[in-house]
Amino acid sequence: MPAPLISPSILSADFARLGEEVRAIDAAGADWIHVDVMDGHFVPNITIGPMVVKALRPHSAKPFDVHLMISPVDAYLQAFAEAGADIITFHPEAGPHAHRTVQAIKALGKKAGLSLNPGTPAKLLDYLYEEIDLVLVMSVNPGFGGQSFISSQLRKIEAIRKSIDQTGRDIRLEVDGGVDVVTARQCVDAGADVLVAGSATFKGGPDHYAANIAALKGMG
Ligand code: DX5
Ligand code: ZN
Repeated sequence: MPAPLISPSILSADFARLGEEVRAIDAAGADWIHVDVMDGHFVPNITIGPMVVKALRPHSAKPFDVHLMISPVDAYLQAFAEAGADIITFHPEAGPHAHRTVQAIKALGKKAGLSLNPGTPAKLLDYLYEEIDLVLVMSVNPGFGGQSFISSQLRKIEAIRKSIDQTGRDIRLEVDGGVDVVTARQCVDAGADVLVAGSATFKGGPDHYAANIAALKGMG
C-alpha cells in the first residue's frame, strides 16, 4: 500500500511565526499545506482569511489545501483562489447549491473538494463524484485541533473509497481530525490517501516535524 500524502494543518502552528512554520513543514516533508479557515458562524472558532493565505504563499511551493469552514462560501471563493489556494474544499451545509459551488471553484481553475462532517452521510456525494477532485472526511467535528478521532468515520471512508474506485476518476480521499500514528494506519487501511495532521505534525516543535511526518507516513 503506498504511503499517504501528509497535509499538516497549520492550525497547530505558532501563529506568531506562520511563514517560518510553513517553511519548516515544507522542508520536513509535508506534501500539502492544510489551511483551516473558520468564520465563528459555521464553526465555533475564528482563524484566518485570504490575506493570510496570500502572505503565506511565497513560503512554500507545495499545494495549498484550503479547508473552508465558512458559510456562506460562494462569495469568498475568488479571494481564496487569487490568494493562492490550489485545492478549495467546502462543506455542503455551507449553502443550498453544493454542485454550483463546485462548478464555481472549477471555473476559477482550482481543484474542488467536498468535506463531510461526522454526521453527514456519504450518500450526499452521489451526484458530485463526476465533478469533484477530493473528498475530505472529517473525523472530528470541525472547529478545533487536538480532538479525538471518531472511529465511526472509518466505515464512511471505506464506503467512499468504493464509490471513488467505481468512478475511475482521480479523486483524492483525505481525512481530517485526530490523526495520529495509530489512526493514520486505520485511515489508510480504510482507503484514505491523504491525511491532515495538526497536533501530530507540530508536537515537540520544529526539531521533530520531519520525524513526526515520517511516522505518519508509516516510515518512522
Ligand atoms: C478541525 C480542522 C483540522 C484540525 C486538525 O476543524 O479542520 O484540520 O486542525 O487538527 P488535529 O490533527 O490536531 O486533530
Ligand atoms: Zn481542516
